[in-house]
Amino acid sequence: MDLGVALFLLSVGLTTLSLLIGRILSSQRRLPPGPFSFPIFGALFSLQEPLHQHFAKISKKYGPIVFLKIGMVPFVVVTDKEMAAQILKAHDLEFSSRPDEEFFRIVSHDWNDLILAPIGDKWKTMRRICSTHLFNNSTLKASAGFRESEMKHAVKAIFQQSGTTIKLQEVLSNLMSNSLCLVLFSERGVEVVDVIQNIVSLCLNLNIGTLLPALDWLDLHGVYKKLNTELVPRLKLLLEDQIDKHRRRKDEAGDTFVPQDFTDVLISLEDKDKLPNISILALLSDMVMAGLETSLVTLEWTMAELINHPHVMSKAQEEIDSVVGTARTVQESDLPNLPYIEAIVKESLRLHPAAPLGVPHMNPKPVKLGGYTIPGGCKVLVNIWAIGRDPARWSDPEAFQPERFLGSSISPNGQNFDFLPFSSGRRVCVGYPLAMRSIPFFVASLLQAFNWSPANPGGIDMEECTRSITMKLNADLLVNASIRVDQNII
Ligand code: HEM
Repeated sequence: MDLGVALFLLSVGLTTLSLLIGRILSSQRRLPPGPFSFPIFGALFSLQEPLHQHFAKISKKYGPIVFLKIGMVPFVVVTDKEMAAQILKAHDLEFSSRPDEEFFRIVSHDWNDLILAPIGDKWKTMRRICSTHLFNNSTLKASAGFRESEMKHAVKAIFQQSGTTIKLQEVLSNLMSNSLCLVLFSERGVEVVDVIQNIVSLCLNLNIGTLLPALDWLDLHGVYKKLNTELVPRLKLLLEDQIDKHRRRKDEAGDTFVPQDFTDVLISLEDKDKLPNISILALLSDMVMAGLETSLVTLEWTMAELINHPHVMSKAQEEIDSVVGTARTVQESDLPNLPYIEAIVKESLRLHPAAPLGVPHMNPKPVKLGGYTIPGGCKVLVNIWAIGRDPARWSDPEAFQPERFLGSSISPNGQNFDFLPFSSGRRVCVGYPLAMRSIPFFVASLLQAFNWSPANPGGIDMEECTRSITMKLNADLLVNASIRVDQNII
């Protein structure tokens, strides 16, 4: 064979081989389907808020796992039970990190917290401390008195306004924030809450610097400057003050010291559980950041649903009257005997999960999943909202029907992938036991004390607020309340 023909055949062979290898590699690296991503901006301009509703819509076209770029950032969004179980159970460890973003670095006090810290020994210690020392049955039982006394304040405040239109959000916000502050610091109305609420309000769904990392340094929204120069230093100062005050009280009490609140518990930890000050501070700030708004919006949605469904409210009141009576107020210890109240809160969490897309997960390395390859560094979102309304799993999914949970073993504790308001897996909400004590207790107390009706004859408008990280009601909760128990007991 002459040399020319041999070279020709060799080059054809090599091209075919490289095409074949390319094909095999690209089939191994197959991305999940999703909308077209333009260079630089990705699918940014086609997004609509609220994002959980938009993602639910596009999953109807592309299926339960969708890949898209928003700006330059790769996202994976999953919208059904099976895919959620893949992310949060089968591949839990691989997807358990958090996105490495400047906003998250600042608010996590340099990754010293629990919510945003990467998976690792520090995070593990924090989780262990939370479950064994803070959210265990005995610590929670010990803090019930705080919630019960704060509930009495709220009932009195509502009673004083009966006969007028009440802005229920204001009352519930005081109730929730004071009761959390009492649990954390044994104090009501601490400034820490206002500062953290300001910080959370700066967390944008679509931050240009995060989506186009080359522009991040410009801080186009002015968010990092405000955090670094104003809010985070103020928060640190306030929390350091709280920790110092608690340490002084502990030293003064000496051997007679008994922890009153979460700060006391955290400063008393010893040996392998002992935390540096920065971690105590970051953990306390996490509790407000992750626990306040989520619990508050759940309580608001629950009351809104009850006011729009008077027959559910009456049935719940009958349950309370038969279990608690009218001679004393509800206590947290009554909750195991109030299954309908529990069902109401679960139904509200199914329809209105406070974190509809959870908190973003991230896979540092590529992961093979459902025949696709998820590239490393994706922001992974589980559409908790869509899963709770999946018509394939829930009959009449848009209807508020607490009865569906009566006699059912479905719990929001992360074991059932049809119902994930607190997510699941390693990162499952650590505050779940507190939320599932405080919210049903507040609901039962509010229903025992008052009959509720909407101030406007059309009922409560159940539209969602579009631009918010947590899922809030858009409208003001304007209501009337009339007392239904003897005034002496409130
Ligand atoms: C109805 C109320 C609540 C809801 C719906 C809720 C929901 C969630 C969700 C969806 C996550 C994300 C889990 C994941 O990344 O997969 C989460 C994480 C977390 N929640 Fe909650 N939460 C609530 C109340 C609370 C409370 C009361 C606290 C504490 C006082 C709390 C503390 C946390 C913390 C610290 C994390 C981060 C856990 C980690 O990354 O390891 N949450 N929560």
